[in-house]
Amino acid sequence: MKNIVVLSGAGISSESGCNTFRDSNGLWRKYRIEEVASPVAWRNNPELVLEFYNERRKKLFEVEPNAGHKALVELEKKYNVNIITQNVDDLHERAGSTNVLHLHGELKKARSTCDPDLVYELDSWELKLGDLCEKGCQLRPHIVWFGEPVPMFEKAIRIASKADIFIVVGTSMVVYPAASLINYVPLNAKKYYVDPNAGNLVGINDLHIIKEKAGTALPPLVKNLLES
Ligand code: APR
Repeated sequence: MKNIVVLSGAGISSESGCNTFRDSNGLWRKYRIEEVASPVAWRNNPELVLEFYNERRKKLFEVEPNAGHKALVELEKKYNVNIITQNVDDLHERAGSTNVLHLHGELKKARSTCDPDLVYELDSWELKLGDLCEKGCQLRPHIVWFGEPVPMFEKAIRIASKADIFIVVGTSMVVYPAASLINYVPLNAKKYYVDPNAGNLVGINDLHIIKEKAGTALPPLVKNLLES
């Protein structure tokens, strides 16, 4: 069975109603990264950080996977599919994808601030100051903040290095190390980049660019891959 690896970003969830980060109405137009998505932000104003993620988590309980997420599930009929996502939403899982690796964490989980191995599923949208782990430490969003290491990246490299087909969808490819993942994909792998604003990725040859929305481009691309 051939391996398909997908690297997804905020763009694939935008048709579900989730904000991206760097589009015209993106989150980084409304919030400053250093105030809501960094260890310094957490030290300086944990309430603002908790509010930023609570708002996004609340929204996540109101949205559904879209045609783009669902198309990727169909690929599992014929391929060994790994989704490597920069997204912290659970829309790939809710669509039915079975192998999802979250490089930047998961919005519906919280983590102990004194023992990073203590990770908890959140059953409501709100995480507050005073919500403690079993060791009595404050819980924080289970998100990789800017300036923090990306623990899943080594595993992502191992997966990408075995790709026969690599599909980049809905990401501006400006955040590292996630954006460097394509450099680990075998040279002879088929590579697609699905994004209305997709541009050439420097140094990546024979990249098939599809300048369309994920919900429009993925269903026919998946149909083609299932029939080929
Ligand atoms: N279908 C496909 N792509 C889309 C769609 C759509 N419907 N709508 C927008 N896009 C594209 C945009 O053109 C853009 O290239 O999705 C991309 C979103 O880029 P960003 O907002 O930068 O999001 P992303 O690449 O996921 O950001 C990476 O940065 O802020 C951090 O940790 C955060 O995981 C995030 C990382």
